[in-house]
Amino acid sequence: MNRKSDSVSIVGMGYVGLCTAATFASRGIRTVGIDIDDERVQQIRKGKAPLHEPQLDTMLRKAVKSNLLEATTDISQAIDTTTTFLTVGTPSGADGSIDLRYLKTAVADLGKALSKKPGFHLVVVKSTVVPGTTNSVVKHSLEESSGKNVGAELGLCANPEFLKEGTAINDALHPDKIVIGSNDRKSANQLTKLYRRFYGSKPPPVITTNPESAELVKYASNAFLATKISFINTIANIAQQIPGVDVGTIAEAIGLDPRIGSLFLKAGPGYGGSCFHKDLLALINYSKQKGYNPVLFRATEDTNEKQAIRVVSMAEKLLGSLSDKRVAVLGLAFKKDTDDTREAASLRVIESLKKKGAHVVAYDPMAIPNAKKVFSEQIDYAENSHAALKGADCCIIMTEWDQFRKLKAKDFQGYMKTPNIVDARRIYDPHAFSDLSYVAIGVGRGRA
Ligand code: UDX
Repeated sequence: MNRKSDSVSIVGMGYVGLCTAATFASRGIRTVGIDIDDERVQQIRKGKAPLHEPQLDTMLRKAVKSNLLEATTDISQAIDTTTTFLTVGTPSGADGSIDLRYLKTAVADLGKALSKKPGFHLVVVKSTVVPGTTNSVVKHSLEESSGKNVGAELGLCANPEFLKEGTAINDALHPDKIVIGSNDRKSANQLTKLYRRFYGSKPPPVITTNPESAELVKYASNAFLATKISFINTIANIAQQIPGVDVGTIAEAIGLDPRIGSLFLKAGPGYGGSCFHKDLLALINYSKQKGYNPVLFRATEDTNEKQAIRVVSMAEKLLGSLSDKRVAVLGLAFKKDTDDTREAASLRVIESLKKKGAHVVAYDPMAIPNAKKVFSEQIDYAENSHAALKGADCCIIMTEWDQFRKLKAKDFQGYMKTPNIVDARRIYDPHAFSDLSYVAIGVGRGRA
């Protein structure tokens, strides 16, 4: 077992907490993962990830085997570590504001445990929270439940994460920055030291600031990325009206301008995932409460919602009425290489297709179990792409899975009743599909 000074505890073994725990342990830092879900804890103890994330299983197995990672439901074990990260979820409330119920419970339980600890303990808020939360809700609850003072026996920092699903382990090992928001030097120093140990001789840039700024960095980051996607989708919808124009060329050209940058300029059916929509709603709600209406972000969200409607209307243009038409939806996950369907554009598209009376047959290599939780028997699920295409009047590509890219024009011609294709992810070369009835987001058909 390592020195006590190098140990961390992480409360909330969801996707962020688990990836953070696995990477800390991989750097030789003793880590205690804490969760209220016993089943989850048992699974982690066996070195098995309760969610799909590349590299996570291997890393967990090694961490558990080497005794560097323990998992428990007992939050009092946090007191044997020097630093506790809070990584519980902050889902959307009914009005879009963040629901702090899990964070409040975690902080109160942690505080109670810390009341018995002699000496200093650092608490780090990694959960995404609106500015002011660390210094109000978290600080008050921690002081009340522990009977100790933040700034004296307790340290407190806000330290947002920027992990992407599918590359979370790599993102945690090689972040482009670390943001530490703290009120006092002792807390900031302890966290900086821990990260120095983690990153060794090649540390990422560290921005040290106050908790409110650190909290806002996370929202600003996601709001910018979401807005960049809605921006390129807007240009795509304009490009699509101009024969011979492809938004891919426009994105490539503007992306060469370093002020713009080439990433996050892929036009498509709109963003999904657990963060962008939730964080934009929270930021809009927070800002309005402060007396400022951020209309730009409302437009980002509206553009995103409407993009799914555009996908359906592209199918309608090819088919006429969708009523009683068999529509194959290829892809349910919000992006490739994940089973996550949260806020996926496919859900909005399928919802709209159903309203229009279409018969939906969906296929996804990984996400069918999660889609079933949403649609149950309201749609059909196919065993593979070909089975989904069989007898279909139209096919809509909703996720950019590599196996869909490999489909050829003859697959669509061979299996579908009529090969009408809506390529919402722009994965095919339009020229290879010139014999089919093919439309793609951001591609103006015909010659200029
Ligand atoms: C995002 C942020 O990138 C990450 O920093 C934050 O911590 C959590 O939210 P994630 O939700 O895992 O990560 O996915 P990301 O890869 O960012 O994609 C989000 C959505 O945007 C996906 O639906 C994706 O298909 C879409 N997207 C992304 C586009 O439509 N075009 C692009 O160019 C990029």
